[in-house]
Amino acid sequence: MIKIKSQEEIELIREACRITRDTLNVVKDSIKVGISTKELDKIAYDYIKSQGATPSFKNYNGYPASICASVNDTIVHGIPSNDIILKEGDIISIDVGAKYNGYHGDAARTFPVGKIDPKVKRLIKITEQSFFEGIKGLKSGAFVGDISNRVQTFVEKNGYSVVRELVGHGIGKQLHEDPMVPNFGRSGSGPRLNANTTIAIEPMVNMGDRNVKFMPDGWTCKTRDGLPSAHYENTVLITDNGVEILTM
Ligand code: MF3
Ligand code: CO
Repeated sequence: MIKIKSQEEIELIREACRITRDTLNVVKDSIKVGISTKELDKIAYDYIKSQGATPSFKNYNGYPASICASVNDTIVHGIPSNDIILKEGDIISIDVGAKYNGYHGDAARTFPVGKIDPKVKRLIKITEQSFFEGIKGLKSGAFVGDISNRVQTFVEKNGYSVVRELVGHGIGKQLHEDPMVPNFGRSGSGPRLNANTTIAIEPMVNMGDRNVKFMPDGWTCKTRDGLPSAHYENTVLITDNGVEILTM
């Protein structure tokens, strides 16, 4: 069931999304050669707490941290570690959620560490653009598959592939609500989106093929071919006339 949110709920989601967005910015400003992903996690945790919110991911199905920190060929769900230390030329996807007054926000970005290969820079840019392609024309009455198809078509046209094992989702009282929002599929398929629903749209884009592997920690998801992958996610509100991006 896709929940329609009341105006009061939307205001709370808005607040959670503002904290989520600000957390990403605080983490972004801390990214530098030599820092560990565990240190970035602590920075995110402290900031979320300072805002009177709690990290949405911590303890979610046993997830042990406040952020996902996914470096290079890690697609998503990289667990922060003292042993993962950023070096020049890396890319790092930071995914974070904040829960505030009972409602969640969820967003992700991929950042460069120092100077990166122009080819990888393009991967980050196309991933970000695929989100904006996905929401083109999106408004009340659209099908979830319209988003999926736009993201997939744009990514593949640009020579990359979309991950299929993990998808976007509805969001509100729960971090993950209906509907699932895949980054591949047919226009006109899936459920319709009504006004005052909130979803997280999150393309995961691989430079090489779409195949993934899950690591023994049960979370870390990497590309099979070892090539880099990027992630871009925002929580959006569907309205009668379009969308509002709540985590920007
Ligand atoms: N943005 C991701 C998602 O919506 C992050 C979830 S990590 C988890 O699936 F630990 F919370 F699962
Ligand atoms: Co998400």
